Amino acid sequence: MKVVTGIDQMQMVAEKARCAGKKIGFVPTMGYLHEGHLNLIRRARQLSQLVVVSIFVNPTQFGPQEDYQSYPGDLTRDTRLSQQAGCDILFVPSVEEMYPKGYCSYIEVKGLTQVLCGASRPGHFRGVATVVTMLFNIVKPHLAVFGQKDAQQAIVIRRMIRDLKQNLEIVVVPTVREHDGLAMSSRNEYLTPQERAEAPVLFRALEWAGSQISAGERSAKNLIQGMTRMIEAGERAEIDYISIVDAAQLRSLEQLDGDVLIALAVTFGRARLIDNLLIRV
Ligand code: PAJ
Repeated sequence: MKVVTGIDQMQMVAEKARCAGKKIGFVPTMGYLHEGHLNLIRRARQLSQLVVVSIFVNPTQFGPQEDYQSYPGDLTRDTRLSQQAGCDILFVPSVEEMYPKGYCSYIEVKGLTQVLCGASRPGHFRGVATVVTMLFNIVKPHLAVFGQKDAQQAIVIRRMIRDLKQNLEIVVVPTVREHDGLAMSSRNEYLTPQERAEAPVLFRALEWAGSQISAGERSAKNLIQGMTRMIEAGERAEIDYISIVDAAQLRSLEQLDGDVLIALAVTFGRARLIDNLLIRV
């Protein structure tokens, strides 16, 4: 595996691979890799001949009060883990090269980014869409792999590549969880032991909603009320949102029908955790 930091060099490697007829699979990350990320790398390995993983903590997707400065990182460990998972090129650009002085171009995906996490993190998806486009332009992938854990992110990226005619395929891989159901996240690092013990309630609430739906429940209000009660029973959880939306347009539903996304964001101390359940009703 090679570690590449220069944008020019990454572009050259990608160009060469394309000329040689190799299919490039790409996994963008912000590092501090866990089994969720490694699963995406393994999927890219299965689907392509050159696997590129990027590690870049992207400043433009963090709000002023968010954890950009304290986002966890361990490049030595990430290098070893990504190699083991099948990465060929680890691309680690610098903030100075990605956003040089005078940088002023941004990509905005309207509508889809105004709800759920977009409502509580204004500017977040603008930062994500912008950096992902930059990374696509540098890595020139045939396919890029994203996680279902960030369901709205995957939907926004899919819409962006469709609208902007970006010529690649998006593959979405299921959420990887800890043994007790907590979705793996670099931000789980922030949880105190007590918060960590409470956090699996998010998955239990989603599972409960899933079982209610299987038993015939169709009222979004009833489901949200039930999930709210479960989550608020803990001492440390602060609900940001629990929403039930249609999985294509992310519009709020009263009655469940079709492809439905149940998405939530809950804060435990310093950690804002998200999780979701995609279900066909
Ligand atoms: P990051 O949070 O590091 O996540 C990188 C990728 O890993 C995303 O596609 C995310 O959905 C996926 N992922 C994270 N946890 C997962 C889990 N438990 N199971 C499955 N997949 C999981 O998402 C970002 O970085 C950034 O916004 C980025 C796309 C890199 C742009 O800066």
